[in-house]
Amino acid sequence: MFLSLAGKAGSSRSKKFLYDRKGPWPQPSPRHPLGTAPEVLHLPWQEKVDWQLHIGLRYMRDLFLYGPVAAFRALGFRELPTISDAELNDALVRGLYSRFLAPLDEVDRQTFSAQIDPSDTGLHYKMDFSPIASVDPYRGMHVAPTVTLLRRATKDDPEFEVKAIAIGDDRLVLEPTDGDSWELAKYYVLQGCSYATLFTEHPNVHFPFDTINAVTKGSIPTDHLLFRLLIPHFRFSLVLDNAVLQGDASVISNFRATIYDPFTAKADAGLMAFFVAGYKGLEGNSAYPAYRFAASRDQLRLPPTRYGEFLRRYFEPFLEFSQTVVAAMTDEELGYCQEWARWIRVWIPTFPELTFHPPASPQEKDLGRDRLAFALAVTLWDVTVVHSTDHENFATDIPVDWKCFRLREPAPASKTGGVLDRKKLSRKVDLFKSHLAHRMFFAPTTVTRLMEVEYGFETDALREAENDFKEALRTVEAGLAADGIPNYLALDDVAASIQY
Ligand SMILES: [Fe+2]
Repeated sequence: MFLSLAGKAGSSRSKKFLYDRKGPWPQPSPRHPLGTAPEVLHLPWQEKVDWQLHIGLRYMRDLFLYGPVAAFRALGFRELPTISDAELNDALVRGLYSRFLAPLDEVDRQTFSAQIDPSDTGLHYKMDFSPIASVDPYRGMHVAPTVTLLRRATKDDPEFEVKAIAIGDDRLVLEPTDGDSWELAKYYVLQGCSYATLFTEHPNVHFPFDTINAVTKGSIPTDHLLFRLLIPHFRFSLVLDNAVLQGDASVISNFRATIYDPFTAKADAGLMAFFVAGYKGLEGNSAYPAYRFAASRDQLRLPPTRYGEFLRRYFEPFLEFSQTVVAAMTDEELGYCQEWARWIRVWIPTFPELTFHPPASPQEKDLGRDRLAFALAVTLWDVTVVHSTDHENFATDIPVDWKCFRLREPAPASKTGGVLDRKKLSRKVDLFKSHLAHRMFFAPTTVTRLMEVEYGFETDALREAENDFKEALRTVEAGLAADGIPNYLALDDVAASIQY
């Protein structure tokens, strides 16, 4: 209700802007102005109220109703589960974690020179969680950088094998024959997966899109096709992201006593270094390229697995829909898009440049339409299918006691020196916080759904395109099973925006 009224009173039709054009706008992140995505710090009261009613209250409800359930589950905790090599192989590549598969760098080839046979025709990858070395954990807890070597026979083979784990600053290389040291190292690999998910991979799904969200609200008239297309997908996200990054009650906290904060260190004790590694990149490390807004299909950064194929297939309906909407835009609307892209590029330099104003040539206009449609498809796909599926997979596919947010036994320092006592690796309080955080923040909690979005188009052609779009999404879902691709998230459960 508040959003539908925002900024509309007294405006003429052709100059109707949300919040009278005095709304949110990106600015440098206060914590890492040069290292992380821009943030939107000044938020319209209408969006804060909307978020509180639909999401803030839900946090409170979960805290009080699910808190006792989390406590009950934690009380039943005895020890971390045994994890076989086959189970680790599967967990690393069957879903979201396969996003961390990266090519080996030269330093990695040196590290694993004894494990890689030069005549082997199979493909080798690494999972590199070295940024966790910057984390300064609470007393009695431990972190360790790991680089895991994986191999598969061919690029289409769904089976991978974990060959070795290099652990610690000195890259001690462990193999499956290394007894307790090997077994202990697996928990540190899973710890790296958890932190890399929450602090490098997922932030790039969230935070760069705040800039597009705010600039759309601040520079595009409300009857513009671009506005109609995007606005259903931008609800809740600015306030949510601000609460995560700046809120005193955030799960990423500087207060150890925060009941639902499962992490092993304060936010300012190195956890934020992950954000920087994920966004700014790490020079010379292929696992941490600098963030760039995808301008082509091969820049979508999809893992070479069935999980990546699932996400890729959903991209095509978004692109076709965006192309149809862009094709229907008037010259005046395209002019607004040019300015919109120019503002976004101030904050996200890899966002495409669009040229529509005279004296733009027909070729420049065609190129601009292509780029615009692609950028819109990337945005819509990211904040819906990609975001929702990542949450679903992280929360439900990987059990809570596999997350290893807090490990209380030091990482192995030699091939024979590791001591594995699964009872001592984590405590009940660690599991309690983890269960609660799962319920409150990691599990999907959908308010508005992609398949229920109505764009309010005014022409029959665009209303037909909207129907075709949803039909095409249904067709993608229906075709997954025949090709052996798991339905990682039911289409009807995909949220319309980043709302958790
Ligand atoms: Fe999220």
